[in-house]
Amino acid sequence: MITNLQLPSVITVDGPSASGKGTLADTIAQKLGWHWLDSGALYRLSALSIMNNGIPPDNETKIADAARNLNVCFKNQQVLLDNDDVSDSLRQEEVGALASRIATYPLLREALLERQRAFRKAPGLVADGRDMGTVIFPDAKLKIFLVADVGKRAERRYKQLIEKGISANLSVLLEELRLRDERDMNRSLAPLAPAPDAKIIDSSNLTVNETVARVMAYWAELNPVT
Ligand code: DC
Repeated sequence: MITNLQLPSVITVDGPSASGKGTLADTIAQKLGWHWLDSGALYRLSALSIMNNGIPPDNETKIADAARNLNVCFKNQQVLLDNDDVSDSLRQEEVGALASRIATYPLLREALLERQRAFRKAPGLVADGRDMGTVIFPDAKLKIFLVADVGKRAERRYKQLIEKGISANLSVLLEELRLRDERDMNRSLAPLAPAPDAKIIDSSNLTVNETVARVMAYWAELNPVT
Protein backbone atom coordinates (compact mmCIF):
# COMPACT_ATOMS: atom_id res chain seq x y z
CA MET A 1 0.00 0.00 0.00
CA ILE A 2 1.30 3.47 -0.88
CA THR A 3 1.19 5.81 2.10
CA ASN A 4 1.60 9.57 2.11
CA LEU A 5 5.07 9.04 3.59
CA GLN A 6 6.20 7.70 0.24
CA LEU A 7 4.65 10.44 -1.87
CA PRO A 8 6.81 13.39 -2.95
CA SER A 9 6.37 16.55 -0.85
CA VAL A 10 4.06 19.33 -1.99
CA ILE A 11 3.97 23.06 -1.24
CA THR A 12 0.69 24.75 -2.23
CA VAL A 13 0.21 28.43 -3.09
CA ASP A 14 -3.43 29.52 -3.34
CA GLY A 15 -4.89 32.97 -3.70
CA PRO A 16 -6.94 35.34 -5.84
CA SER A 17 -6.17 36.45 -9.41
CA ALA A 18 -3.08 38.60 -9.89
CA SER A 19 -1.86 38.07 -6.33
CA GLY A 20 1.50 36.93 -7.70
CA LYS A 21 0.99 33.21 -6.95
CA GLY A 22 2.44 32.09 -10.28
CA THR A 23 5.70 34.03 -9.92
CA LEU A 24 6.00 32.95 -6.29
CA ALA A 25 5.34 29.26 -6.99
CA ASP A 26 7.67 29.21 -10.00
CA THR A 27 10.49 30.86 -8.03
CA ILE A 28 10.11 28.51 -5.06
CA ALA A 29 10.08 25.50 -7.42
CA GLN A 30 13.29 26.72 -9.06
CA LYS A 31 15.00 27.32 -5.70
CA LEU A 32 14.14 23.83 -4.47
CA GLY A 33 14.68 22.15 -7.86
CA TRP A 34 11.07 20.90 -7.78
CA HIS A 35 8.28 20.66 -10.35
CA TRP A 36 5.69 23.42 -10.73
CA LEU A 37 1.97 23.07 -11.44
CA ASP A 38 0.11 26.20 -12.61
CA SER A 39 -3.40 24.74 -12.17
CA GLY A 40 -5.05 27.93 -13.49
CA ALA A 41 -3.44 27.13 -16.85
CA LEU A 42 -5.49 23.91 -17.04
CA TYR A 43 -8.73 25.87 -16.53
CA ARG A 44 -7.56 28.46 -19.06
CA LEU A 45 -6.62 25.68 -21.53
CA SER A 46 -10.09 24.18 -21.13
CA ALA A 47 -11.58 27.62 -21.83
CA LEU A 48 -9.39 28.11 -24.91
CA SER A 49 -10.20 24.63 -26.16
CA ILE A 50 -13.98 25.24 -26.04
CA MET A 51 -13.51 28.65 -27.72
CA ASN A 52 -11.48 27.01 -30.52
CA ASN A 53 -13.94 24.16 -30.95
CA GLY A 54 -17.18 26.13 -30.75
CA ILE A 55 -18.41 24.35 -27.59
CA PRO A 56 -21.06 26.51 -25.85
CA PRO A 57 -19.96 27.77 -22.40
CA ASP A 58 -23.11 26.31 -20.80
CA ASN A 59 -22.55 22.73 -22.06
CA GLU A 60 -20.97 21.27 -18.91
CA THR A 61 -20.72 17.69 -20.21
CA LYS A 62 -18.93 18.65 -23.44
CA ILE A 63 -16.61 21.01 -21.55
CA ALA A 64 -15.62 18.22 -19.15
CA ASP A 65 -14.98 15.90 -22.13
CA ALA A 66 -12.83 18.56 -23.79
CA ALA A 67 -10.82 18.98 -20.55
CA ARG A 68 -10.33 15.24 -20.15
CA ASN A 69 -9.00 15.03 -23.70
CA LEU A 70 -6.82 18.15 -23.68
CA ASN A 71 -3.80 17.53 -25.87
CA VAL A 72 -1.40 19.70 -23.93
CA CYS A 73 2.35 19.85 -23.49
CA PHE A 74 4.24 22.06 -20.99
CA LYS A 75 7.70 22.76 -22.46
CA ASN A 76 9.94 25.03 -20.38
CA GLN A 77 8.01 28.34 -20.35
CA GLN A 78 5.85 27.33 -23.34
CA VAL A 79 2.38 25.75 -23.35
CA LEU A 80 1.34 23.82 -26.45
CA LEU A 81 -2.33 22.99 -27.13
CA ASP A 82 -2.81 20.63 -30.10
CA ASN A 83 0.83 21.46 -30.97
CA ASP A 84 0.13 25.23 -31.18
CA ASP A 85 2.03 27.57 -28.87
CA VAL A 86 -0.78 29.17 -26.83
CA SER A 87 1.40 30.68 -24.07
CA ASP A 88 0.31 34.25 -24.93
CA SER A 89 -3.36 33.64 -25.76
CA LEU A 90 -3.78 31.78 -22.45
CA ARG A 91 -3.04 35.00 -20.53
CA GLN A 92 -5.77 37.06 -22.25
CA GLU A 93 -8.40 38.50 -19.89
CA GLU A 94 -11.19 37.00 -22.02
CA VAL A 95 -9.75 33.50 -21.53
CA GLY A 96 -9.29 34.06 -17.77
CA ALA A 97 -12.87 35.26 -17.42
CA LEU A 98 -14.26 32.22 -19.28
CA ALA A 99 -12.00 29.94 -17.20
CA SER A 100 -13.44 31.43 -14.00
CA ARG A 101 -16.97 30.91 -15.33
CA ILE A 102 -16.54 27.25 -16.33
CA ALA A 103 -14.48 26.50 -13.19
CA THR A 104 -17.80 26.46 -11.30
CA TYR A 105 -18.78 23.20 -13.09
CA PRO A 106 -18.33 20.08 -10.89
CA LEU A 107 -17.84 17.84 -13.97
CA LEU A 108 -14.97 20.02 -15.19
CA ARG A 109 -13.29 20.08 -11.77
CA GLU A 110 -13.63 16.28 -11.59
CA ALA A 111 -12.17 15.91 -15.11
CA LEU A 112 -9.07 17.91 -14.12
CA LEU A 113 -8.51 16.27 -10.72
CA GLU A 114 -6.21 13.37 -11.67
CA ARG A 115 -4.39 15.46 -14.29
CA GLN A 116 -3.40 17.85 -11.50
CA ARG A 117 -2.38 15.11 -9.04
CA ALA A 118 -0.21 13.50 -11.74
CA PHE A 119 2.16 16.49 -11.44
CA ARG A 120 3.23 15.19 -8.01
CA LYS A 121 6.62 13.73 -8.84
CA ALA A 122 9.99 13.45 -7.08
CA PRO A 123 11.75 15.41 -5.77
CA GLY A 124 8.67 17.57 -5.03
CA LEU A 125 5.96 19.84 -6.38
CA VAL A 126 4.95 23.46 -5.89
CA ALA A 127 1.32 23.85 -6.99
CA ASP A 128 -0.53 27.13 -7.37
CA GLY A 129 -4.24 27.82 -7.82
CA ARG A 130 -7.40 28.24 -5.76
CA ASP A 131 -7.98 24.80 -4.18
CA MET A 132 -4.50 23.25 -4.11
CA GLY A 133 -4.31 23.16 -0.31
CA THR A 134 -7.99 22.44 0.32
CA VAL A 135 -8.96 19.84 -2.33
CA ILE A 136 -6.16 18.67 -4.61
CA PHE A 137 -3.26 18.26 -2.15
CA PRO A 138 -4.82 18.41 1.35
CA ASP A 139 -1.75 16.61 2.76
CA ALA A 140 0.71 19.25 1.46
CA LYS A 141 3.59 19.89 3.88
CA LEU A 142 3.33 23.69 3.55
CA LYS A 143 0.27 25.64 2.45
CA ILE A 144 0.50 29.32 1.55
CA PHE A 145 -2.49 31.58 0.96
CA LEU A 146 -1.30 34.70 -0.83
CA VAL A 147 -3.49 37.79 -0.66
CA ALA A 148 -3.02 41.39 -1.81
CA ASP A 149 -5.22 44.44 -1.87
CA VAL A 150 -7.41 44.41 -5.03
CA GLY A 151 -6.22 47.91 -6.02
CA LYS A 152 -2.57 46.80 -5.84
CA ARG A 153 -3.36 43.67 -7.87
CA ALA A 154 -5.09 45.74 -10.57
CA GLU A 155 -2.06 48.07 -10.74
CA ARG A 156 0.34 45.13 -11.09
CA ARG A 157 -1.77 43.56 -13.86
CA TYR A 158 -2.01 46.96 -15.60
CA LYS A 159 1.80 47.39 -15.54
CA GLN A 160 2.35 43.86 -16.88
CA LEU A 161 -0.02 44.46 -19.81
CA ILE A 162 1.45 47.88 -20.66
CA GLU A 163 4.99 46.44 -20.54
CA LYS A 164 3.88 43.79 -23.04
CA GLY A 165 2.54 46.55 -25.33
CA ILE A 166 -1.11 45.55 -24.69
CA SER A 167 -3.45 48.50 -24.06
CA ALA A 168 -5.33 48.37 -20.75
CA ASN A 169 -7.70 50.39 -18.61
CA LEU A 170 -7.07 50.41 -14.87
CA SER A 171 -10.68 50.86 -13.76
CA VAL A 172 -11.89 48.10 -16.12
CA LEU A 173 -9.17 45.77 -14.76
CA LEU A 174 -10.19 46.60 -11.20
CA GLU A 175 -13.82 45.79 -11.93
CA GLU A 176 -12.87 42.52 -13.68
CA LEU A 177 -10.72 41.43 -10.73
CA ARG A 178 -13.55 42.19 -8.29
CA LEU A 179 -15.97 40.12 -10.37
CA ARG A 180 -13.49 37.24 -10.64
CA ASP A 181 -12.79 37.28 -6.86
CA GLU A 182 -16.51 37.26 -6.19
CA ARG A 183 -17.14 34.26 -8.47
CA ASP A 184 -14.05 32.29 -7.32
CA MET A 185 -14.89 32.83 -3.62
CA ASN A 186 -18.61 32.19 -3.79
CA ARG A 187 -18.89 29.06 -5.91
CA SER A 188 -20.22 26.07 -3.98
CA LEU A 189 -17.51 23.61 -5.05
CA ALA A 190 -13.84 24.18 -4.11
CA PRO A 191 -14.20 27.93 -3.54
CA LEU A 192 -11.18 30.16 -3.14
CA ALA A 193 -10.47 29.93 0.60
CA PRO A 194 -7.44 29.30 2.80
CA ALA A 195 -7.04 25.78 4.19
CA PRO A 196 -7.34 25.86 8.00
CA ASP A 197 -3.62 25.07 8.26
CA ALA A 198 -2.50 27.61 5.61
CA LYS A 199 -0.05 30.44 6.30
CA ILE A 200 -1.56 33.68 5.06
CA ILE A 201 0.83 36.16 3.44
CA ASP A 202 -0.34 39.65 2.46
CA SER A 203 1.94 40.76 -0.38
CA SER A 204 0.34 44.23 -0.85
CA ASN A 205 3.49 45.90 0.47
CA LEU A 206 6.05 43.17 -0.21
CA THR A 207 8.39 42.74 -3.18
CA VAL A 208 8.58 39.37 -4.94
CA ASN A 209 11.93 38.68 -3.21
CA GLU A 210 10.48 39.46 0.21
CA THR A 211 7.51 37.17 -0.41
CA VAL A 212 9.80 34.37 -1.60
CA ALA A 213 11.98 34.85 1.50
CA ARG A 214 8.95 34.41 3.79
CA VAL A 215 7.96 31.15 2.14
CA MET A 216 11.53 29.83 2.25
CA ALA A 217 11.66 30.74 5.96
CA TYR A 218 8.44 28.77 6.62
CA TRP A 219 9.93 25.83 4.70
CA ALA A 220 13.19 26.03 6.68
CA GLU A 221 11.20 26.04 9.96
CA LEU A 222 9.60 22.76 8.87
CA ASN A 223 12.94 21.25 7.88
CA PRO A 224 15.47 22.36 10.49
CA VAL A 225 19.07 21.48 9.72
CA THR A 226 20.27 19.28 12.58
O1 DC B 1 -4.98 31.47 -11.65
P1 DC B 1 -5.65 31.88 -12.97
O2 DC B 1 -6.09 33.31 -13.02
O3 DC B 1 -4.81 31.51 -14.15
O4 DC B 1 -6.99 30.98 -13.04
C1 DC B 1 -7.99 31.19 -14.01
C2 DC B 1 -9.33 30.75 -13.45
O5 DC B 1 -9.33 29.33 -13.27
C3 DC B 1 -9.69 31.33 -12.08
O6 DC B 1 -10.43 32.53 -12.19
C4 DC B 1 -10.51 30.24 -11.44
C5 DC B 1 -10.05 28.98 -12.09
N1 DC B 1 -9.20 28.15 -11.21
C6 DC B 1 -9.83 27.33 -10.32
O7 DC B 1 -11.06 27.35 -10.21
N2 DC B 1 -9.10 26.48 -9.54
C7 DC B 1 -7.76 26.47 -9.62
N3 DC B 1 -7.08 25.62 -8.86
C8 DC B 1 -7.09 27.34 -10.50
C9 DC B 1 -7.84 28.18 -11.29
